[in-house]
Formats: sequence, structure tokens, C-alpha cells
Amino acid sequence: MEKITGSKVIGVATPRIDGPAKVTGAATYSSDHHFPHMLYAWPVSATIAHGAVTSLDTAAAEKMTGVVAVYHRGNLGPLYRVPPAEGFNLIVDERRPPFEDDVVRYYGQYVAVVVAQTVEQARAAADRVKVSYSKRDPQLSKQLLATAGSTEKPKESSKRGDVAGAVKSSAVKVDETYTTPVETHNPIELHASVAVYDGQGYTLYETSQAVVNHRNVMAAMLGVAPEQVKVVTQFLGSGFGGKLWPWPHSALAAACARNLKRPVKLVVSRQMMFQNVGHRPATQQRIVLGADAKGKLTAIQQDFANHTSLLDDYQEDCGEATPFLYSTPNLRVTGVLARRTVGTPTAMRGPGAVPGLFALESAMDELAVKLNIDPVQLRLMNEPTIDESLNLPFSSRHLKECLTTGAQKFGWERRTAAVGSMKRDGLTLGWGVAACSWLAARADAEASVELRQDGSARVACATQDIGGGTYTVIAQLVSHTTGIPVDRVEVVLGDSSLPPGPISGGSWVTATVTPAVLEAAQKATKALLLAAVKSPGSPFMGKQQDALEFADGAVRLKGQSQSAIPMGDIMRAAKIKGVSGQAKSTGTFGDAHPKFSFHSYGAQFAEVTWQPEIARLRVSRIVTVIDAGRMLNPRPARNQIEGALMMGVGMALLEETLYDSRVGNPLNNNLADYIVAVHADTPQIDVTFLDYPDYELNALGARGVGEIGLAGIAAAITGAVYHATGKRVRDLPVRIEDLLEPARTRTA
Ligand code: MOS
Repeated sequence: MEKITGSKVIGVATPRIDGPAKVTGAATYSSDHHFPHMLYAWPVSATIAHGAVTSLDTAAAEKMTGVVAVYHRGNLGPLYRVPPAEGFNLIVDERRPPFEDDVVRYYGQYVAVVVAQTVEQARAAADRVKVSYSKRDPQLSKQLLATAGSTEKPKESSKRGDVAGAVKSSAVKVDETYTTPVETHNPIELHASVAVYDGQGYTLYETSQAVVNHRNVMAAMLGVAPEQVKVVTQFLGSGFGGKLWPWPHSALAAACARNLKRPVKLVVSRQMMFQNVGHRPATQQRIVLGADAKGKLTAIQQDFANHTSLLDDYQEDCGEATPFLYSTPNLRVTGVLARRTVGTPTAMRGPGAVPGLFALESAMDELAVKLNIDPVQLRLMNEPTIDESLNLPFSSRHLKECLTTGAQKFGWERRTAAVGSMKRDGLTLGWGVAACSWLAARADAEASVELRQDGSARVACATQDIGGGTYTVIAQLVSHTTGIPVDRVEVVLGDSSLPPGPISGGSWVTATVTPAVLEAAQKATKALLLAAVKSPGSPFMGKQQDALEFADGAVRLKGQSQSAIPMGDIMRAAKIKGVSGQAKSTGTFGDAHPKFSFHSYGAQFAEVTWQPEIARLRVSRIVTVIDAGRMLNPRPARNQIEGALMMGVGMALLEETLYDSRVGNPLNNNLADYIVAVHADTPQIDVTFLDYPDYELNALGARGVGEIGLAGIAAAITGAVYHATGKRVRDLPVRIEDLLEPARTRTA
């Protein structure tokens, strides 16, 4: 692939161009949209987890002040299912449209919706809708792996050699089961829909990580052509995967707007976000490792399970990283679903790999302890030279350097292996390490770039900025190609009517948009050269086009900087307002015949402090080294990793959605009781990017960050907890009770 090396803007730490709009409140988030005659919708949520609605009494609600309508299964009007599809353009996790039948499959499922003049009126009236149910027992058992009586059969996703035979003859074995709990996405921006219907088409202001997909799904659900739906998401207060695919409230808002011919706003409450908009499912994983006495892996077996809802098949692919992370002749990965009375789960930052690597990397730590080998050393000696599952070379893999650089920065050589043997300031220290990995990919993308008479550029793409810096990186790409300063590049995203762009998911936006934006910018400069030689009035009129070049925002004779004429002067002379270029690039994702194994890698080093006298555990220090290709903008990239590491502290020690087993409802459904890591939990964080370009993926060698920082970190922390306390915690999150005598067991 073509390589681009030098640049004045690529790789330069650039502040977010959307930062000022965000911090001054000028940025319009989806629920900030207001329209004349707008109404407010508030859903009525089921108060059982399993059963059926037997009657709905809306009379009292309908009589309340301000109430305009109460919709339910009997009067909402048509909503259709989304046809099954491949790719990333027609995805919905909860396939059943709201109110499709009277069956209740999870606590909080919407059974009616009230529309009123104000949000307070709608909410008050929703409380007065009387719903009667026939009830069945919730199903929430945490035993997820298939047992003797299970109906679901595990599916094999990767296999080589003979695992059972190799394990039997291994000198050293680890055979343990690990669990991760339900985790709920808690972006600070609530999910919201503001639906506008003009009698012909819909404009939907949504909290979406994928405006093109959202448009297609809503068109299918509403039964109209995609051209009749426009989805807008200018800014996102994050999403973590929870806003990738449309959820039922979005269809409800659109249907209400359709029925009433007035704009309708529906903001999902924090409580509802624990029920109706996805979560990372609970996982249970058995890992079996076999090794020879020196520590060379002979076998890896991973059998994972995750819960899903009664209707939808969401798989948390815990085996994502297992087949290629280490060299071993024998390997087998299986996965199985367990149906529970919960809302449909969905992707959450690093889906699959994050819980998967908690288990695999915990088991590697346990193996290192059994072998009495340093855990960094154990990983170094099991480094593969190729992806042994695909039998393909890695596009670019520097995991060993991540480990050695991280070890050096952390001071790992001072580690003494014995449990509780390290002290500082009266605290017991624990040091742990884990490797991490996340996929690298490119999806399809289109972009258009316009160069304008006023000396500025405009670039448009129907992707969106989840907060990670997409606006800025796209401005940098245009600036790199044209020489127009970053602050003169207008970046237009978050509108499904723009040239189709990627989902803000998989950490692949940067890699995906890079080729299309670079080429569109190139084409725009070529269009300007054409105008320069063909326009009467242009100083270059009549010259050969290939005698000219575009550099630093100006047209000039090749190599002759003194001949440069700013692009605005040429356009003014030619009486042209602007010239544009469009480009389309195809992705690597789902390639049937890949030539390379594309992944990012990293090493996580964590230090905990432990005070047994008062059972106080803190994560005090994290050193992370990331190999994720070339960093186009190291500033937001560092923020992504830092944020992910904080989420990892939460994953290891705090986060868990708890259900009442009798009612089936999430109990800690608010930010007071669902604990996420905050500033007070922040350790010292040191992030290093190795910055090796991956030119097999795109001309700039960019892969992308966002998810990889959350991979491995929980295992590094629980490894550190073991080192400090001698307690091996295999069920997240680590609780104080786990560290007291006697240790409890949690899987019931
Ligand atoms: Mo990410 S879970 O692909 O939004």
C-alpha cells in the first residue's frame, strides 16, 4: 500500500476543534433540539420481568392536564421488523418493535407511551396508566455455561490440534472459571430522540453512534423509503457502544410524531437506561491452559457463555483475541448463549475481547504463579510469529516491545514475586501485568471535500464524533492534503444525508475515513487545477494542468513557490465559489480472503495498594504501552486510553448491575448506586504509544484507539490484587469481601 510519512499536521497533538462549542454550551446535542408545538413523550415501563400484559387502563391518564395521547399496542399504528442483513447498515439488537405483542420479556419493557405538552405532565400521566399482568418467574441464573440439561449447544469458533490430549500430557495446567457481571453503559448524555414529521418524511435528532444505520433501521421500522428519513447526531456525550444501534424509544418517538403530526421529544431516563438500551451481558468462561515445565504453552481451551434476551441472539465474543494472542499448537474456543429475562445486550467498549481477556490473562497469571515464572517473561516466551489461527502474517505486531517498554517504565525488575512481599509507606503493594489486543479494521466510507473561495475547506461525511476526536482528525487529514490550516477546515458530520460514513464503533472510524478523506481532498485540489488552466481570468489560463501543483492552499508551477497564487484568488478570478472532490473507499472488515491479521496490541501494568488493617484497596498506578498504528492525533488518542483505563478500574473494582432475583429489575439503576470510577479513583496513569504505522491498513498507517485501553486492564489489576493479598478473584468486580477470610464464592 502507498505510504505517507512526513506531515506538518498528522501526528501533531491538536486540540479538539469542537472543544470550544462543547465547553461554551454552543454544541447542540440531540435533546437540545426544540421546535414550535413540540410535545413530550414518556414511556410506561413494565413492572414485571416475564409474563404478559392482560389489560391496560389509560382512562385516568388521558384525563390529566396536558395529555395529548396515550399509545399502546391497540392504537400506535404500524411498526415493522427490520429484515436480517449483513454488514453495518441495517443493524438493530432488539428486533421486536415496541408493542408488537403483549408478552413481557424483561423488566422495564415499554408497554405504552404518554404524549403531553410538557415532560412533567407526560411522566405524571405515565405513572397513572394501570397495567395488569399475568406473571411468570424471572430467569436470571448466573450459571451460563452449558450444563447437562442445557438446550443450547456450544459452537466452536476456533480450533487447531488436540487440546484434550495436550492438556492431559502437560506438565503444568490451569483450569479455572471466570465471570464478569452485567455492566451498564453510562454515558453522561442520556439517550434521546426528537422526531419531526412533515407529512412526507422524518427528521430524527438521535443519540446515535451510526446515523446511516439508524436511518435505514428507522425507515424499515416505519415502513417508508430511506430517502424519507434523515437522522442527525451532531454531538454525542459518548455512548460506549450503547448508542450504536437504535433502541425502541426511537421508534416510539417517530411513531408518536407521525400520529400527531407534531414534533415529539423522548428522553430516556437514567433508570430506563439500565433496562431498555442494552448492556454488556454477564459472561462465564472456563479457561484451560497446558504448558511444559519451562512455560511453553501446549494448549489453550476457552469455553465461554454469555446471557442474552429471550428473543435476540447477542453474542459477547469472548474468544475474539484468544486464537492469535499466543503461540500454541493446540487450541479450542467455544461459545454458547444463555437466555435470560433481560433486555437485549449489546456491544460495550471492546465487546468480547474485554471480558475474554480478563479470563485469558488471569489464567496466564495463574500459570505464571504455578510455573514460578515472571508473568512478563511467560508472555514473551509464548509470542507467535504469525497468526496461528488464520495462518496469516500480522500486518504489524509489537506486543513484545509493549511488554518490555512497559516493564521498564513501570520498574518491573524491582518486583519480588512472593505474595505481600512488597511494601511502601506502610502499604502492601501488588503488581500485575496483562497483554491486550483489539481488532483493527476499515469499513466502507465516502467523503466529499470542497475548497472555497474564502480560503477555507469543507469536508462532509455521514459518520459522527462520539467524543473521541473525529471532527479534529478529519480536519487534520484535509489540512495535511491541502495545506489549509486546521482551523479553516469546516467538518460536517452527523447527518445521514451526507456521503455515507462509518459507525463510531470498533475503534475503526479513523482508519476507515482516512483513505476516502485523503482522496476526496486530492480530487478537490485537482478540480482546482483544472479550473486554474481552463478559466478565463485565471493567471494560469492555458497552462498544462500537469505543469501545476497544489501546495499550502495555493496553486503554483511545479516546484516554484514564488509562482504560488492562493486558491481564493484563483476562484475569484474564475468567478467560482468552490470546487469539490468525492471519494469512496472499501473496507477490510469481513474480507473473505484477508492477507494479514489486523490487530492492535498493548501491555497493561497495574499497581494496587492494600491496607489489610482496614481492608482498603486502591489502584495507585497504571503504565500502558499501546501498539495501535500511527497516532494521527496523540492528544485525543491519549484521552481515549486514559478514559478506557479508568473504565478498567471500574470494571475491576466497582461496576456491576445487580438484579432483584424475585422481581427481575435492575436494583442499582442510577449513578448513585451503580458505581463507576471517578476522579477520586484515578491512579497515576502513564500512556505510551509505540507509533509503528500499519501501512497494510491505510496510507497513513493509522489503526485507531478507544477500545483497546479497556482490554486486559482488569486482569492486570486482579493480578496485582493477588500479588498483594494472595486472593485470586475470578469473579468481577473485586469486593472487599473477596479479600477477607474466608473467601466467598459467587456463582450461584
Ligand atoms: Mo464500540 S462497543 O464498537 O461503540
